[in-house]
Amino acid sequence: MKKTDTSETQNPDAGRARAGRILAIGGGKGGVGKSVASIVLASALSRRGMKVVLADLDLGAANLHTYLGLHGDTPGIADFLIKRAATLDELLIDTPLPDVRLLSGARYYSGMANLTYQAKQKIIRHLKNLDADVVILDLGAGVHFDTIDFFAISHPSLLVLAPEPGSVLNAYSFLKECVFRHLTGIFGKHPDIGPEIRRAQLEGGDETSFSLESFRATIREIDESVMPIVDEAVRVLRPAIIMNRVTDLVSAVYADNLQKLVLHRIALRVHYLGNLPGVQGLSEQLVGLPAFLASPGGAKIMAAADELLADLEKHFPLEWPTETEPETAAGIDARMPREDFSEDELQTLSLLLDSLGDSAFGKTAKKAGRKSGPVIGRNAWKLRLYYRPVEVVRFLIGNGLSHPVFYA
Ligand SMILES: Nc1ncnc2c1ncn2[C@@H]1O[C@H](COP(=O)(O)OP(=O)(O)O)[C@@H](O)[C@H]1O
Ligand SMILES: [Mg+2]
Repeated sequence: MKKTDTSETQNPDAGRARAGRILAIGGGKGGVGKSVASIVLASALSRRGMKVVLADLDLGAANLHTYLGLHGDTPGIADFLIKRAATLDELLIDTPLPDVRLLSGARYYSGMANLTYQAKQKIIRHLKNLDADVVILDLGAGVHFDTIDFFAISHPSLLVLAPEPGSVLNAYSFLKECVFRHLTGIFGKHPDIGPEIRRAQLEGGDETSFSLESFRATIREIDESVMPIVDEAVRVLRPAIIMNRVTDLVSAVYADNLQKLVLHRIALRVHYLGNLPGVQGLSEQLVGLPAFLASPGGAKIMAAADELLADLEKHFPLEWPTETEPETAAGIDARMPREDFSEDELQTLSLLLDSLGDSAFGKTAKKAGRKSGPVIGRNAWKLRLYYRPVEVVRFLIGNGLSHPVFYA
């Protein structure tokens, strides 16, 4: 894994990723072991010499501080949200695990569990800019929009499963909601596609009745040109499974079931990263997990975490487009485009796209570097705006355009 570049001055608003990797840990159900897995992975990463930040994003039910044995009033994300602190960085506190710092969720004010769009984007931007090799996001249960949005910035997104049927169905529903969340973000206001999404979402009430294939067929009838965007909304999800509380070989069946269900229904491959064993008596050790993990009793789960990390690095090597792209090529603006945009800024970008001549979008598949496939026209770029604005901005910059809204 990459070490962070510490030579650069920290400017969270510069839009440049500094955190080496973000790992979000979610998966729908409460009690499957997301928080335990977060701490175990943080500990294993720090033993590999990584600088880690554990971010407790289970807003409203935060417990990492307790599991880490930290008592008393800990500053945390609430202070950032009420603007008592200007950066997340200054809120990080040391934990008993060496090189692991905590962004605590202990402090809470009512309303904190429902973030505004701007607040969420600001948190995401600051998380990406933390000075750490790995930032682990411990997410809450359920399919809250905020949880889904945090889950989506991870590479890969980690689903924790417990060996029980309910956990598999929950994880599946969670992934399906992630897909709908993306699709609604792009097509929600589309006069024909928007209602189709809402219909499919309602029909999907019975956990397994949704099928991406029939949904795609419906959308194709409405407007074939948007199909690449539909497929991309699904493909952008990079989920991987951690089976927790494994006691026997049968546990793998649950991971297998989830993989099959997700592939069959939403045509998505979920990587099975590995297992964490069920540890007798762990619940009694919860208020001081670091000490337990360092004791002989914790050796088995730590060894399993090491295997998980080895698999993670093998299957999800780091790729950082923001660091390898424009740099200083002659004639290209060396500034990095911003990563998030307010509704107003998206509107400005949308008007800008409208004002461009057709030739700006007229790339054939071949010119766009693909052997075949649909041409991405103006409408598709406009739809993509609501989904991956930074890509649209890069496309425009690549076509020699510049506009103040591109940059922070
Ligand atoms: N690998 C494990 N072995 C034994 N008990 C576990 C394991 N992982 C989690 N638990 C227990 O399950 C309960 C819920 O774990 P927690 O991490 O808080 O779940 P979540 O964050 O998903 O709600 C805790 O009591 C914890 O002790
Ligand atoms: Mg938890």
